[in-house]
Amino acid sequence: MRSRRNTPRIIAIGGGKGGVGKTTIAANLALAIGRTGYRVCVVDADLGAANLHTALGVLHPQRCLADYIDHQTEALEDVMTQVTPTVQLAAGTSRPGSANLGATEKLRLLRAIANLDAEVVVIDVGAGTSYTVVDLLAAADHKLIVLSPQLTSLHNAYALLKACVHRVVRKHATDEMHRDLIDSALGQETKARTIPQLLGTLRPLDEALASSIEGTLKRFGVSLVGNQLSAAAEGEALRKMTPLIRDKLMLNAPFIAGIKRSQSLAGSLSAGVGTIASRPNDEAHLAFRQLADVLLATDLSVIRGVDLGEGVRGRAPTVPLWIQRGLEADAAAGR
Ligand SMILES: Nc1ncnc2c1ncn2[C@@H]1O[C@H](COP(=O)(O)OP(=O)(O)OP(=O)(O)O)[C@@H](O)[C@H]1O
Ligand SMILES: [Mg+2]
Repeated sequence: MRSRRNTPRIIAIGGGKGGVGKTTIAANLALAIGRTGYRVCVVDADLGAANLHTALGVLHPQRCLADYIDHQTEALEDVMTQVTPTVQLAAGTSRPGSANLGATEKLRLLRAIANLDAEVVVIDVGAGTSYTVVDLLAAADHKLIVLSPQLTSLHNAYALLKACVHRVVRKHATDEMHRDLIDSALGQETKARTIPQLLGTLRPLDEALASSIEGTLKRFGVSLVGNQLSAAAEGEALRKMTPLIRDKLMLNAPFIAGIKRSQSLAGSLSAGVGTIASRPNDEAHLAFRQLADVLLATDLSVIRGVDLGEGVRGRAPTVPLWIQRGLEADAAAGR
């Protein structure tokens, strides 16, 4: 067995809605972190609609994530393409059917990501609220939710976070009794029901279960990133999501960056330019540098809820236990 190394800082980028800028942000953030000297792996997990390689200028990757998922390679490292001296890419796949990962494949992928030989992993999880998207986000240390200044983006981001929270709640069931309790609490859900109300129903029935769910939600580590902003007022409107998410979903979701609509990020085939902010003084370039700094300054031990201790910085269970247990139960049940 390979010697144990530190678990990389994992940053997943989702948003619910298509086209809000997840891939643009994944590519530019990975490059910005790479420029600070950290070894970065950027993973295109937008299975079925992959295009992170194109954003990074890798037009024909030799290997892709599907090679690992289909067991054509043993190690996830084998599918990497070097993009810059510090940034490697696991290109995505658009093979038909690849977007539907089973529980066993998903757990294998999550463990491989957590064991990558890198200091930081950036994952583009793609659009939507599928279980693959939700689990990739949930297993990450930082869950970046990209919002664009459209109402539909806000609705879809909220739907994604709600899907995550319901997954957290359901995956805390370790036996039949818990499952019944949780299902009956969730089953009473009406349009107005919030997570505090759900926990209020659960708590008198099982205090330990309710506290455990609450603890996981407290550490869930969501960050909101505004993108394609053209006026300051748009950023202000997006910031209103933070209290809404706290009150209804019990998640701490600070707004950590606002990226403006910028010519250097607007990929254009006719102009032959990509979606990378490559000029160091460009406003977008600086915005990604700042976003990288904010993320890298966050203490991993706080996010992971473990005392990493001296000399073992960054070590933690590879995949959060509640996800591991849940996926193992799904695999055993053939789900
Ligand atoms: N800040 C920005 N300024 C200008 N154009 C942008 C900005 N962010 C993204 N874009 C452009 O918007 C389009 C969609 O961006 P991108 O592909 O990154 O979105 P996505 O969320 O990954 O989409 P999908 O859900 O389809 O994967 C691209 O053409 C990209 O160049
Ligand atoms: Mg994309």
